[in-house]
Amino acid sequence: MCGIVGYLGARSPVPLLVDGLRRLEYRGYDSAGIVVPVNGRLEIVKAEGKLDRLVEVLQGRELAGVYGLGHTRWATHGIPSQRNAHPLLDAKGRLAVIHNGIIENFVSLKKRLAGEGWDFVSDTDTEVIANLVSSHFDGDLRVAVERTVAELEGMYAFAVLALESSEPEIVGARSGPPLVLGRGDGEQFLASDPTALLAHTREVVFLENGDLARLTAGGYEVWNSSGEPVERPIVRLNWDPVQSEKGGFKHFMLKEIHDQPQALQDTFAGRVDFESGEVGFDALELTSQEVAAIDRIHLLACGTSWHAALVGKFMLEELTGIPVEVDYGSEYRYRDPLVREGDLAVGISQSGETADTISAMEAAAQRGAKLAAICNVVGSQVTRLADGVLYTHAGPEIGVASTKAFTTQLVALYMLGLYLRQRLGRPVENALLADLAHLPQAVAGVVAGERDFEELAGHFFEASDFLYIGRGANYPIALEGALKLKEISYIHAEGYPAGEMKHGPIALIDKSLPVVAIATGERVFDKVLSNMQEVRARDGIVLAVTDRDAEALGGGADHVIRVPRVSELLQPIINVVPLQLFAYFVAVRRGADVDQPRNLAKSVTVE
Ligand code: F6R
Repeated sequence: MCGIVGYLGARSPVPLLVDGLRRLEYRGYDSAGIVVPVNGRLEIVKAEGKLDRLVEVLQGRELAGVYGLGHTRWATHGIPSQRNAHPLLDAKGRLAVIHNGIIENFVSLKKRLAGEGWDFVSDTDTEVIANLVSSHFDGDLRVAVERTVAELEGMYAFAVLALESSEPEIVGARSGPPLVLGRGDGEQFLASDPTALLAHTREVVFLENGDLARLTAGGYEVWNSSGEPVERPIVRLNWDPVQSEKGGFKHFMLKEIHDQPQALQDTFAGRVDFESGEVGFDALELTSQEVAAIDRIHLLACGTSWHAALVGKFMLEELTGIPVEVDYGSEYRYRDPLVREGDLAVGISQSGETADTISAMEAAAQRGAKLAAICNVVGSQVTRLADGVLYTHAGPEIGVASTKAFTTQLVALYMLGLYLRQRLGRPVENALLADLAHLPQAVAGVVAGERDFEELAGHFFEASDFLYIGRGANYPIALEGALKLKEISYIHAEGYPAGEMKHGPIALIDKSLPVVAIATGERVFDKVLSNMQEVRARDGIVLAVTDRDAEALGGGADHVIRVPRVSELLQPIINVVPLQLFAYFVAVRRGADVDQPRNLAKSVTVE
């Protein structure tokens, strides 16, 4: 939800800002812009649409400054347009602001400022920040920002630079969405996300909520919400910048599908001792007494991470015997959830920034739950909120449609189940571990069959609707398969529990509706097979994801996608991979913008 980047140092800022925006573009791509102070003027260049448009507009323009700000937008207030693109100036043209988030009291602030003679030229809430800072600015930008944030309500990360500062400086403020500082050699960076900084520095500082930061040529300073100077820890990131490149793949999504065998391996490596069955995590420690006191586990997440939670319920209940509730972050926070003191609440989030998941975790903590996080981004908000963290180690996920984050979340949930089981004094038998070790190889086998999916997509890319069905832990995989297809190809797709079809959706079946059925394992295989036959009996077209050969399906499928078989609890991790590939190739065939689908952004930092 909007990416912001700032640079201050000896290098020419424009290429650095554009490069940072390129890496943040997944956060929003409605418009982009930069500002650089040059010879006492604020040079602003903005363009509606993707970053490439801005790059075109910048061509041939010499903007030689020593610092600047850049922004890539996901529109909240005001349509995507040049006028609403950031950076935004105050009415006097003294300073420029870039912003990620929402100012909830912007209407009343705007009215007041307008009454005081401040003009507004955009429909954004951000312009209120620009005018407010300007109204408080008399030479000390940090103080002006401090006074401004005292008047703001909502969630924001913003950065400001001003012409009248006595030396080049950038002041940033954070309340909600992330803001990260990067320390280079004689240069300072600021960004929404460390991936924007990886090419220049691995030493980053995650600002806390309420923090203000000031970057100058001499370094950076941070103040907390009480205005006291504070030292925030410097985190050394071990992400390889190459991981944020496409590495020869046409799209990040395809690369990230291919990353999965390694990512799965990285998620369990060093945490599971396959000989002794011991499971342990660096940043999550629960005593046997704490685990015994858990009455219920609450899994809180949104979107694809919520699908991981649905699968996690099967894993955790079977491995621990503890009842599990799964909630959407956006629902949990606005109901009055029943949480007992000592319950375990687990926030699951790739980005660690999702506003609804964060609020749900806060709601659980307020009611006495112990908080854990399953997260991919080191130092992100959910990891700071939680008492313990299980990092997924998937590496940067840039494609808006989540793939490797999902499968690694499933491995993390499975390991969490093993860990809790152990703390409850129950044995972690070999059978529970054997297939975990085999997962990367099994997934690699599916990915290697990529070409088959390209061919399959050729049969189906013109369909206008799809139904995905599965049972048990594969019902959430049906939901995830449908979500992948709809978000990147814009084809309407619905996931349904296979057994529920006859209670309604079967009315939709005809020869134009492809049905993707997940038929693996033993427990419900025959039941799914019957559901497939019901589709076929009504002229529907069935694509089966199965661990059997076509004959075992008894003619129940028109197309068969064969996957390796692992244990029932781990099988969903394999089953989702062909659905990711299928969605990818259908979207490519339709000419869709796979990595940056319309209307979406990767980190949803607003409610
Ligand atoms: C779909 C997708 C989204 C995210 C959701 C939660 O492909 O990526 O549905 O899963 O926005 O995001 P995180 O996991 O970052 O909290």
